[in-house]
Amino acid sequence: MQIFEKIKDLQAFLAKESAKGSSIGFVPTMGALHEGHISLVKEAKKESELVVSSVFVNPTQFNDKKDLERYPRTLEQDTKMLAEAGCDILFAPSVEEMYPQTDTRKFDFGFLDNTLDGAFRPGHFNGVAQIVSKLFEAVKPDKAFFGQKDFQQVLIVKELVRQLDLKIEIVPCPILREPDGLAMSSRNTLLSPEERKQASNIPVWMKEAKQLFNGKNAEEVKKVIIEKVNSTPLFKLDYFEIRNADNLQEYNAPTDKHAVALFAAFCGRIRLIDNEVLS
Ligand code: PAF
Repeated sequence: MQIFEKIKDLQAFLAKESAKGSSIGFVPTMGALHEGHISLVKEAKKESELVVSSVFVNPTQFNDKKDLERYPRTLEQDTKMLAEAGCDILFAPSVEEMYPQTDTRKFDFGFLDNTLDGAFRPGHFNGVAQIVSKLFEAVKPDKAFFGQKDFQQVLIVKELVRQLDLKIEIVPCPILREPDGLAMSSRNTLLSPEERKQASNIPVWMKEAKQLFNGKNAEEVKKVIIEKVNSTPLFKLDYFEIRNADNLQEYNAPTDKHAVALFAAFCGRIRLIDNEVLS
């Protein structure tokens, strides 16, 4: 695996590979890698000749400074995992390399950015769009692979690609889960043993929502699950919503085809998200 820290070195290398006709699959990450990320690399390998992954903790997408400070950084271990998974190129730039000056761009994603995580983490998706557009410009991939755990992020990135008219296919990949069902996340390592124990309730609630949902009873299902979350110690709920999976608008039966349940809560100090496609 080749490692690059500078955009111009990465671009010089990739330009030669593209000229040979190699298709490029890209897996952007913020590091602290787990099996979920590795599954993205494996999918990228199946669908592309050259796989590039980036490890960069992007400061502009953190609306909470403390969250940025405590975000796990494990580059040595990440490098080993990517190499073992067969990743061809690791791009691990510094903050100065990605932001030589402040990025003042403001993207407009409308409702997609005003709801759910967009509402609870103001500026988060603008920061995601800033870094993803810079990474896309540096890597120029044919396909980019994103985990469905960040359901809203996938929709935002698709909209970004549409607005910038990029010829990049966004490939959403399924959520990977721990043996007890908790969605894999770099943040899971920050949970205390007690928080980790309580966090295993999340996949139980998501499954229950799926079982209860019959296409018409979104409000009732929400009520049941919200009550359970609110009566579980250590949890502070941001939202549990059932939405139209295509655009995140309120789910309207029977016209809307796909429903998704979306969850975000603090478990102790750590904010966790999950989702489950219901229909
Ligand atoms: O999903 C993530 O890890 C990040 O939001 C991403 C896409 C790498 C941008 O920093």
